[in-house]
Amino acid sequence: MEPSTSAGAGRPSRRDFLKTTGALTAGIALGTQTTARAQGEALAVNGGPKTVTAPHDAAIHWPQYGKDEEEAMLAMLRAPSYDAVKQLEDEWAQFLGVPYAKAHCNGTSALASMFFALNLPAGSEIMAPSYTFFATIMPMRFFGLVPVFVDINPHTLNFDLEDAKKRLTPNTKAVLPVHWIGLPADMDLIGDWAKEKGLIVCEDAAHSQGSRLKGKHMGTWGRMSITSYQMTKALPGIEGGMGMYQDKEDFERATSLGNYDMPGIDKNGNYFKYKGSGLGLKFRMHPMAAALVRCQLKGLVARNEVGAKQVRAMNDRLAQLPGLYEQSSGRKDMQRMHYAWNMLFIDEKEAGMTRDAAVKALQAEGVKADALHYTLQHELPVYREEGWWHHLPTIPDLPGSVKANATSIALPYFTSEAPELVEQYVKAFEKVWAHRTELS
Ligand SMILES: Cc1ncc(COP(=O)(O)O)c(C=O)c1O
Repeated sequence: MEPSTSAGAGRPSRRDFLKTTGALTAGIALGTQTTARAQGEALAVNGGPKTVTAPHDAAIHWPQYGKDEEEAMLAMLRAPSYDAVKQLEDEWAQFLGVPYAKAHCNGTSALASMFFALNLPAGSEIMAPSYTFFATIMPMRFFGLVPVFVDINPHTLNFDLEDAKKRLTPNTKAVLPVHWIGLPADMDLIGDWAKEKGLIVCEDAAHSQGSRLKGKHMGTWGRMSITSYQMTKALPGIEGGMGMYQDKEDFERATSLGNYDMPGIDKNGNYFKYKGSGLGLKFRMHPMAAALVRCQLKGLVARNEVGAKQVRAMNDRLAQLPGLYEQSSGRKDMQRMHYAWNMLFIDEKEAGMTRDAAVKALQAEGVKADALHYTLQHELPVYREEGWWHHLPTIPDLPGSVKANATSIALPYFTSEAPELVEQYVKAFEKVWAHRTELS
């Protein structure tokens, strides 16, 4: 997913109150001053003053490259070498705590190598969400693999295990959850079920660099996983990717597809004999991209923490508004980071206004709110055309994915501290909510 710009379980106690007592008394709940001022001011959409006046540029500026990155690029120009690729593989494997890692030219090629490494018979099926980027699924077709589209939970935007249980087929061999915009999927529960059903667990961790479940990094729960270093990602190399493997066999088989020179391959292993030819493709990562990601990795945890703290500061107050929820699983054993969006959801009935009315009013207040409709893969023509697949994928109804697209309000993820903007965003939401009967 390449968002164009450089943009869960609320505690309903106050909400229950608001649900029952409507707008006016909501004023009390929102704090009389807040509401009085919020109600006093006309909505910008109706000609009133705009609430958000602070500039966005610095808050959404991405990637944030500085002196280190510039020096690394200059050094590479003066003495070009591929060393940074192996160095990044080692540093990333150590950061995650994964035995094997192979750098790739992008995340999509890392997915292709992973599908190849699965070494499954043609016609085998892999469960994956339809609410994802093309890359999670499309490379399957080159290896005779066919997707089983699984629904998402509309509050987490992640793989819905209960839906997957209903879609298991005799050909299903693996599951491939995605940790959407940084929120970990329930890999412990998915892993237990997969084990019970004899399915291989893989992960698309393109969005979740630094997220953890039960202290364990995303990308280390599956037998294999991938990540992306595309320019918008939390670790931007402009382009780039990585495959992560628990098993040596998978690492060597994945490496052999896109590396004719067999880097790091055991001379006594099954794949070293392919040195000189490889198995067909060249997925080597550009060393400049590797050098950029090495610089960025140093500050990843700190950047993620600043960003998450700021989202918390905003969402803890927004979650007080009736019918407004954040992307959350409510699990306390997760440590998430954020990527691309701070995703909210509106319950129109509870909020007493439509999403479109809310988003239009918020935009007029200066909020970069987007009634986001994310492309659902299963709705695309390529999955209905014979020639591309071993056999045609089943095109399902996915109510959770449809609901997510009907209720999402995407806010930009502020990649650096912006207290004034956060304050103005909260004020804008409170103002719009204070006028929601007007908007209904
Ligand atoms: C969920 C997901 N998987 C895979 C990828 C592929 O990564 P890349 O763009 O590096 O090929 C992306 C990228 O943007 C993504 O959003």
